[in-house]
Amino acid sequence: QAADIKLVVNADQPGPVIHRNIYGQFAEHLGTGIYEGMWVGPESKIPNVRGWRKDVVAALKELKVPLVRWPGGCFADEYHWREGIGPRKQRPVKVNTTWGGVAENNAVGTHEFFDLVDQLGAEAYVNGNMGTGSPQEMAEWLEYMTAEGHSTLADLRRKNGHDKPFKVSYFAVGNETWGCGGNMRPEYYADMYRHWATFLKTPENNRPKFVASGGNDQDTTWEDVLSKSVRFNFDAISHHAYTFPSGQWEPKGPAAGFPEAEWISMLSQVSKIDSTLTKTAAVLDRNDPKKRLEIYFDEWGSWYDPEPGSNPGFLVQRNTLRDALLAALHFNVFHAHADRVKMTNVAQMVNVLQAMILTSRDKLVLTPTYHAFALYTPFQDATSLPATIENNPVYKVGATEMPELSATAARGRDGKLYVGVVNSNATQGAELVLQVGANAPKSVKGRLLTATAMDAQNELGKAPQVTPVAYEAQAVDGRLTLKLPAKSIVVVAVEG
Ligand code: AHR
Repeated sequence: QAADIKLVVNADQPGPVIHRNIYGQFAEHLGTGIYEGMWVGPESKIPNVRGWRKDVVAALKELKVPLVRWPGGCFADEYHWREGIGPRKQRPVKVNTTWGGVAENNAVGTHEFFDLVDQLGAEAYVNGNMGTGSPQEMAEWLEYMTAEGHSTLADLRRKNGHDKPFKVSYFAVGNETWGCGGNMRPEYYADMYRHWATFLKTPENNRPKFVASGGNDQDTTWEDVLSKSVRFNFDAISHHAYTFPSGQWEPKGPAAGFPEAEWISMLSQVSKIDSTLTKTAAVLDRNDPKKRLEIYFDEWGSWYDPEPGSNPGFLVQRNTLRDALLAALHFNVFHAHADRVKMTNVAQMVNVLQAMILTSRDKLVLTPTYHAFALYTPFQDATSLPATIENNPVYKVGATEMPELSATAARGRDGKLYVGVVNSNATQGAELVLQVGANAPKSVKGRLLTATAMDAQNELGKAPQVTPVAYEAQAVDGRLTLKLPAKSIVVVAVEG
């Protein structure tokens, strides 16, 4: 008889806190991610509060969105903040050269962004322009947002409707400076960062955490160079890694209608994120042994071939059950690295790449990824706990293999013990004996997310195929068994 598969949680060995910003979001001026998807303008017939869609904001609030990164991405390095303030009708219209060549009318600027984060109850993460800006422009944006007393820029902010300084929690100096942000070498960027950061000044009580643009995918050279050479106004390094079914940039593979080989090729790649974070932490432990620097994984998620018929520059893609599992596997990895990883930002919040919400005119649907985020909300600011899976089966399709089950555990802020488990096997269910220390808990209660098809999705005008359902289990003869259907996520609170 095969040995039991066990999940053993050590509730008496608390680890680091899982920062709520691990559940952060990213909203870029890209396609309909902001315009249409969230911003419709105050004159729109679509119900809105000062231009922001009520339905979208309400759905995002359910996710307890802790933080939003804006205005890009690649867009950030062509964004000039002065064009996005003052009367909206007088703002310049530019070509969004990075994303689809469409008109950017600057209707959403600094004040509108801060209104959005206020409506969401989230923190603001602003990404500055190093690519086409100047240290002066960047420093003046910070002054405009944060200055308290009398200065021309602070007075201009007041004239534009915001008396008090905005709270800028995080500020990034450039984005992907190895690529769209300027095609720099890490040594050159490190010197640029040292130079520019010298002039980024704010009142002490409104100083953001300053973020340097770091590496991509499995490359940790940037983290090494930056952590060796930068000291001032330097709190965190960003890192980006997207997942493509083909494992390469082009062609990426479809978002739906894929074989099981592409299901596993996506999910198995999350182990690369895990090993990159282990490598990055080792680099930082060497160069920053006091653990002052934080890692912000501020772009991650699935990236597929664009939806047929869409503007390829809009990065429109479907969102299926596979994306929900991909997200949950990322969460489990991020929790395991919670001592250094203090923020992550899924790309992106609405209508772009691995979105939470897809909109069409005045309608919206909640994607499977949305539901994965919803299931994991109890982990925000929870204290991580060691969780080990014994006898974890190997899930194999063709030459690709991965552990069938992935788990995480934490003590929530409400004092409850939470467990999250993902069964990546697309065809086989799994049974997992849950132990807390040496004991079997009495019962568990929570939610389960699964569907019949690997590419099940929620589409406008059709009954949703992927929605969470209630899940519970009780101990029988001193054993509590979690039954996980094929391709599923379960998050439960443990009792007894
Ligand atoms: O999220 C889409 C793009 O991906 C971002 O603008 C850029 O930073 C990354 O390459």
